[in-house]
Parts: sequence; structure tokens; C-alpha cells
Amino acid sequence: MTTATPNPASNPAQASTDPLELIDVDHVRFYVGNAKQAAYFYAQTFGFHISQVADLTTGSRDEADYLLTQGNIRIMLTTPLSKDHPAADEIRRFGDGVKDVAFTVHDATKAYEQALKNGGECGGEPREITDERGTVTVASIKTYGRCMHSFVSRTGDYALPNVKKGGEFMPVFRKMDSPVNEYNTKNPCGLKFVDHLVGNVEEGKMNYWVEWYENVMGFAMFKHFDDADISTEFSALMSKVMASGNHLIKMPINEPAEGKKKSQIQEYLEWHDMTPGVQHLAFRTDDELSSVAELRRRGVDFLSLPDSYYDIVWERVNKTLAAHGHEAVREDHDRIKKLGILVDADDEGYLLQLFTKPLQDRPTLFFEIISRRGSQSFGKGNFKALFEALEIEQERRGNL
Ligand code: FE2
Repeated sequence: MTTATPNPASNPAQASTDPLELIDVDHVRFYVGNAKQAAYFYAQTFGFHISQVADLTTGSRDEADYLLTQGNIRIMLTTPLSKDHPAADEIRRFGDGVKDVAFTVHDATKAYEQALKNGGECGGEPREITDERGTVTVASIKTYGRCMHSFVSRTGDYALPNVKKGGEFMPVFRKMDSPVNEYNTKNPCGLKFVDHLVGNVEEGKMNYWVEWYENVMGFAMFKHFDDADISTEFSALMSKVMASGNHLIKMPINEPAEGKKKSQIQEYLEWHDMTPGVQHLAFRTDDELSSVAELRRRGVDFLSLPDSYYDIVWERVNKTLAAHGHEAVREDHDRIKKLGILVDADDEGYLLQLFTKPLQDRPTLFFEIISRRGSQSFGKGNFKALFEALEIEQERRGNL
């Protein structure tokens, strides 16, 4: 039973005249304190393959990079090998987290030049990484806070379709063989691609970044929630969703809003050197129940909701679905409750989602596991229940 929208990224776009046409999410780069160890955490808990590495043994002298893959998700874990590497200072300030959301484009230099023309700021001039097998061109622009977007174009053996089939990511990488990969093949977590990626920005800056994505990247507004939608008694946020032209990726942008207690966005910023950054990455699965069951078995620490959530959720969700002529939630309701999965519906259908607790000791980055049955929204109906659960966690951390 797979009705999920096919990943637009699985059909690389034809060459177009728009230099900012995004073909795929090339990779998401994390800066981490110890990539070798982090790779095993993400492999063991979330089922990523530790596919390739670039380190001292492959001729990478300044950093170690581990490419984790699952479905069409590519995460690059980067660790600096000296105090002078720019990642060293960022890890000191922010802990582990997302540095770069990189997009595959037809021509990285042209995309970069267009983004600069549109008002973007240089985050890294075009550079070619090349050998006899092909060339990877990378150029970057800065986005909110500590983050950037790299544009990546690929030729020869390093073309994206080859990378997707397991080919080398770029020169200096070598393939990894690990028992954990074998285990993950036999016990899949079913994560398919990056559904959306959420950024937290400072209070009063959401609209600035909404316009930035419109002007610099050619994105458009997708959905809009105001703080009346997303608030609990204690804390609030405001959020607007930006989507790339081809809806390859959606990027909600949050800012803290006034509340009686400290907003979760404010908590993030305070543990992130008051600097904007990526709050969560949502991975799409076709089968939420199987994915969450496997992730729980592996020890993933999910946010837990009060049992009372399920006292009212079915009426709320199935009423909305019926009102718009959609079938009720077809997955086993008891299993959904047992697995602690959240459900929401809108005029297009429903979605199943669940959020992890922070992935590192600082209350910053977390993951979401999401499955869509028609709904293209982000679980607005869950925000209240969710924020109350988040506040219980904030309270436990002494951050409320
Ligand atoms: Fe989300």
C-alpha cells in the first residue's frame, strides 16, 4: 500500500534555461565533533549505510567525511582534522548540526552566479574537484545563520545517477564495507528522501528569510501558519513554508513568538549561540508503522505524547477526512497508538508523523519521520499536542 507521492527527485529534470533549477538534494552536510563515531550512531539507530569515506587514508588532509546513504538521502558527516579548519570553530559554538543543504544543479557555477545576481552572498567560490573519471563542481551561498546552500554539478563517473547506484561521490572518496551495512540491508528502516527541512531564525526575521528564498533561490510560499495556529498556553512560534519551483524540497522557516514561557525556537537559539540553523530534517517513508517500529527497536528516542492524545485524535482526523470525501485512516489505529505515531488530516488527505528527541546533547537538531496519504501539509493539527509534549521535555532540561 504505497500511495506516497513519488519523489520528484527521482526524475532528474531535463536541461532547462533556469540556472537555479534544482535537480535533487545532492546531500545534507553536518559538521560533527567525531564523524567516525557519529557515522555509527546514524547507521545503528536510523539504518543509514556508511557508504563512503574521505580521510587521511584516502588523501584528505584537512577533514574526514563520511557519506551516509538510505533511499535517496545522502548525509555527509564532516569533522575537522585541525583547529584551523572552519568547522572546528563552528562545532565549538554550535555542537553537532547541519551546515549545508546542497542541491544538484545542471551547472554549479551558473547557479551560483545567478544566486549572487539575485542578492545572495558568497559562501564558497566555484571550485572543481576532478580526476580522470569526472568532475564535481561546487559553489556555495550563505543562507540563514550558520547555514549555506551549495550548488553541485557532476560529470562522468560522478554524475548523480551513478552516485545513486553506489558509485564514488567525488574524487578522494573510497567505498566502505561494514557489517552494519549488511545488517541494515536485512533490516531496513524504509527512509526514502528528505521531505522537508526546517530552519529556526531569530524573532522578527522570518519574513526577511521568506523574501530571501523568493528572491535569491526562486522559491515560492507554500503554506502559512500564524501564531494563533501554533501556540500553546506557554509558548509560540510563527512559521512560513517555502517550496522550490518543482517542489523538490520544502523549507519551513520558524521564528519565536511571544509566549508565557520560553518558546522551543528560543530554546534552540540559546543553545546554538543565538545563531539561526536547521531545526529538523523530515524523512519520508511509505510505511510509517514499519519504519517507526524498526527505529524504536533500534533505540531511537522519540518524543512521547500523553495517552490522552489518542482519545480525541480519531474523531478529529476522520471527521476532517469524511468532510472532504476521503477514506478514513486505514492503518491499524491500535498499532498507531502503541507506536506513539501522530496523525493529522486536511482537505487533501492525511499524514502520519513522529519526531525524535534532539540527536545530540544540546537541544538543537532532531529528525521527523513522515508518511503522506494525500496531505501535503506539516501536521498543524498536532502542533498543540506536540508543543505541550515538547514543553514537558524543556521543563526536564530546565529550559522553560
Ligand atoms: Fe516537520
